[in-house]
Amino acid sequence: MSMAVETVGLSKAFSGKVAVDRIDLRVQRACMYGFLGPNGAGKSTTIKMLTGLLAPDQGEVRVLGYDLSLQPLEVKRRIGVVPEDLCLFENLTAREYLTFIGRMHGLAPEVLRARSEELLALMELEATGKTLTLEFSHGMKKKLSLAASLIHAPELLFLDEPFEGIDPIASRTLRTVLERFVERGGTVFITSHILEIVERLCTHVGIIHKGRLVRQSSKSDLMANDSLEHAFVEAVGEAGKDESALSWLGDSV
Ligand SMILES: Nc1ncnc2c1ncn2[C@@H]1O[C@H](COP(=O)(O)OP(=O)(O)O)[C@@H](O)[C@H]1O
Ligand SMILES: [Mg+2]
Repeated sequence: MSMAVETVGLSKAFSGKVAVDRIDLRVQRACMYGFLGPNGAGKSTTIKMLTGLLAPDQGEVRVLGYDLSLQPLEVKRRIGVVPEDLCLFENLTAREYLTFIGRMHGLAPEVLRARSEELLALMELEATGKTLTLEFSHGMKKKLSLAASLIHAPELLFLDEPFEGIDPIASRTLRTVLERFVERGGTVFITSHILEIVERLCTHVGIIHKGRLVRQSSKSDLMANDSLEHAFVEAVGEAGKDESALSWLGDSV
């Protein structure tokens, strides 16, 4: 069977500045792939190119066996995306938003209604009634965006920093949903700059630094002789930062 995601030489520059530099990703099916890297490493730019939101300058992208540049609709039918900036239509209620997204995917009304109610209950959003999503907290918006990404029963989920800015309860709900999704054969591609999340949740890890893919393996291989933190610091090469920095902070104590 084809890989969930496969890229060859994927690259993107903005005004001549390279953001993603010839990366070859290989993401197996039914795994939780953590795409880890410091701020500005190129994670969001990569995820945008994998989901058809941004055209690459160079390179090939295959998603679930389809060439993204030739069969973008076949890909979009089968993936769910939670982008960094969420992109909700904020003048809708949660139910209206799910209805809108479900109709775009062509779901039958009864199927859409049943799935919406199930997802709203799972995300603890069923009581939001007539509240417009513009009044939602950040965590509520993230949960709604995740619900919308699942409504058409995708095979592959792309999540850009999904744990950023949410409380521990929302975070636990999100973890449970993702684990269940992978148990049922789904694949999750998740970006994060937080080591603990990747360490706890992911089965496979890719590390990106300054646009280059510097490590890619199963988490167990990566952590065989090492902590993920050490592997990350080593890959990113930021060890030995100036120890005397901020020494003045203790001066008045
Ligand atoms: N639309 C854009 N225009 C110009 N530069 C961009 C744009 N998007 C991203 N970049 C630059 O590309 C690099 C990678 O950004 P990004 O992919 O957002 O990193 P990450 O998600 O890992 O924090 C950064 O240097 C960023 O400033
Ligand atoms: Mg980002």
